[in-house]
Amino acid sequence: MKTKILLTSLLGVTFLFSSAFAGDAKNGKKIFKKCAACHNVASTAKHKTGPKLWNIVGAKAGIQEGYRYSNWLKSSGIEWNDETLAAWIGTNKEKTKYFGKDVRKSRMIFAGLRKKEQIVDLIAYLKTLK
Ligand code: HEC
Repeated sequence: MKTKILLTSLLGVTFLFSSAFAGDAKNGKKIFKKCAACHNVASTAKHKTGPKLWNIVGAKAGIQEGYRYSNWLKSSGIEWNDETLAAWIGTNKEKTKYFGKDVRKSRMIFAGLRKKEQIVDLIAYLKTLK
């Protein structure tokens, strides 16, 4: 009986890990509500306070046509991938640690996500935008 419970919980943990690793795009879409006030996602959509995020994963930062970026972001040389995106939408502390303190010259005002699973899911969702 005890063994059975242990086994189930172990499996539960493994499942959690593997799903967190792959990222749950469906859940990510829900989390994107935190971003939607400032970002559209459709290829034909207009920019809002922030640039639209169509095809953002794999793109260079600051290249969406018709959007006026901060000089910092435009000249940052960032390429958006799992690592850079996670740092960009993480807490301000993590953002600064990764990009350096000059990142405050960029213009995205966002408190940052604390939960790693949320970040992974959100990035999985961003990957579907293409
Ligand atoms: C309050 C508005 C606001 C919110 C909320 C916000 N952003 Fe932004 N975002 C911006 C602005 C403004 C910029 C442009 C920054 C600059 O030019 O320095 C930006 C830039 C970006 C970029 C770079 C785009 C490019 O073309 O290089 C990404 C990626 C991004 N945001 C993702 C997100 C995600 C994901 C979320 C939600 C977790 C989010 N943002 C929430 C305003 C916002």
